Amino acid sequence: MYLVGFMGAGKSTLSHKLAHYCNATSYDIDIYIAHKHRQSVSEIFQTHGQEYFREKETEVLRQFVSEKEPHIVSCGAGIVESKDNIDLLKGEFVLFLDVPALEGAHRITNPKTRPLLADMAKVSELEEKRRPLYEQIASARLDVSGKVPHEAFLSAVDLLEKEGVICRLQK
Ligand code: S3P
Repeated sequence: MYLVGFMGAGKSTLSHKLAHYCNATSYDIDIYIAHKHRQSVSEIFQTHGQEYFREKETEVLRQFVSEKEPHIVSCGAGIVESKDNIDLLKGEFVLFLDVPALEGAHRITNPKTRPLLADMAKVSELEEKRRPLYEQIASARLDVSGKVPHEAFLSAVDLLEKEGVICRLQK
């Protein structure tokens, strides 16, 4: 399963909690790329540029999609920026964690870790561009606005059980 949504939606936290609950493996694309490069995402943006980061994102996504073991992947908010990624996600269960982009941005304790939050005026632009794409690729949508991580987790379990996804995730 793949978690998508705006920055600050809680994708990484939920991915860990769900993976623990289902005894599945959780991956975080940002952390995976940063680890491989021994650089933070901000440093990668600074030294190689956004396009390079997007290429790495697609490489890593392709790798996860081909994985056979049950897994939960937290995608960066910009995963929908690439048509290749959208195509890769087509055969997967994609959960859209829906939070208004500004609310998400305000949840991030250290905005310096998110290069695209350097200009907060651009957040609404990003939302306009990305929301229809999240909606397009989502197998299910979970409204996490105003929810603390534990509430989001409980709602996600409820939703995923109804969708029959939880059992598929269990090792
Ligand atoms: C980005 C979101 C970030 C990270 C990078 C770019 C984006 O991930 O991939 O800073 O394009 O919105 P999170 O959604 O985990 O914050």
